[in-house]
Amino acid sequence: MKENAVIERRPEPVCGMNSWVPVPARILAIHQENFNTKTFTVEFIDEYLRSAYRFDPGQFNMIYVPGIGEAAISISSNPHQPAKLEHTIRLVGTVTRAMGRMKVGDMVGLRGPFGNGWPLAEMEGRDVLIMAGGIGLAPLRPVIYWLLENREHCRRVVLLYGCRTPEDRLYATELEQWEREGKLDVLVTVDNATAEWSGPVGVVVNLMRRVKVNAERTTVFVCGPRMLNRVAAWGFLQLHVPMSQVYLSLERNMNCGFGRCGHCQYGSKFVCRDGPVFRFDEIADLFGKEEI
Ligand SMILES: Cc1cc2nc3c(=O)[nH]c(=O)nc-3n(C[C@H](O)[C@H](O)[C@H](O)COP(=O)(O)OP(=O)(O)OC[C@H]3O[C@@H](n4cnc5c(N)ncnc54)[C@H](O)[C@@H]3O)c2cc1C
Ligand code: FES
Repeated sequence: MKENAVIERRPEPVCGMNSWVPVPARILAIHQENFNTKTFTVEFIDEYLRSAYRFDPGQFNMIYVPGIGEAAISISSNPHQPAKLEHTIRLVGTVTRAMGRMKVGDMVGLRGPFGNGWPLAEMEGRDVLIMAGGIGLAPLRPVIYWLLENREHCRRVVLLYGCRTPEDRLYATELEQWEREGKLDVLVTVDNATAEWSGPVGVVVNLMRRVKVNAERTTVFVCGPRMLNRVAAWGFLQLHVPMSQVYLSLERNMNCGFGRCGHCQYGSKFVCRDGPVFRFDEIADLFGKEEI
């Protein structure tokens, strides 16, 4: 593993520990991923913040659209290049749609990084199975970048990704590149195929059948819609992967982002502070319950 690998420490929010005050950042580039999702590349205006900011794969920022409001958005870029941050945003609500109307050169506010991120140390010497559905690939993409730079850290790496149609795939060019380069096995499935699609069709959990899972030495990271998280977590259990080796990233409505307001409460936990990544055995009792 490289010396500068992000693994033990948790980066502090650079814009003031536990701060409500967003820091100005400029949009450098916008990439349309699919019909309702865009990836925004941003950088802090302040030179010191640009050089001091660090994040761990799986952490998120609160993004502020001036005059509109804030939303929690995962950092989807390479943790080894923290000066330019990417956020992949599905344009579905008040803040995200306002974000969708923004142009290169426009300013947003950022607070973060918040949350705990994926447990990279847990992957050491193990097979790693990454399962993502739809926008759930965004918080897992930094893990893949990290693994590509530290490939000797673990054994086999498999990415299982599902989305609605081939056109809905996030990071389509990168998915193809990762598959070509062969450092990880990439399997993509779609709910609805087009004439050009020759890959698997069906929900992403079906891909579990195509992979030989060595339960004793596999660590699993899952991020997707609530139903996918549930089905996947119980599915891996049926394959005898211990609950303590299955990690899930959860979503709740956020307000402060750092454990003060209680908006993101999930049972006895705060998703912003104790998560968003949880070990399955920490939350299994909440998983079967609705409206928690
Ligand atoms: C830790 C964490 C990380 C996250 N990372 C990301 C990320 O990387 N990318 C990302 O896109 N989101 C991410 N989210 C989700 C995002 O924070 C929420 O979707 C947030 O509510 C969006 O804010 P908004 O004001 O645009 O939506 P709101 O107006 O608050 O709407 C909330 C939700 O209501 C639904 N909704 C609202 N209007 C419509 C509509 N017209 N049609 C269908 N559904 C609708 C959507 O599901 C929407 O997400 C993350 C959330 C958390 C907690
Ligand atoms: S968002 Fe305020 S406690 Fe989590």
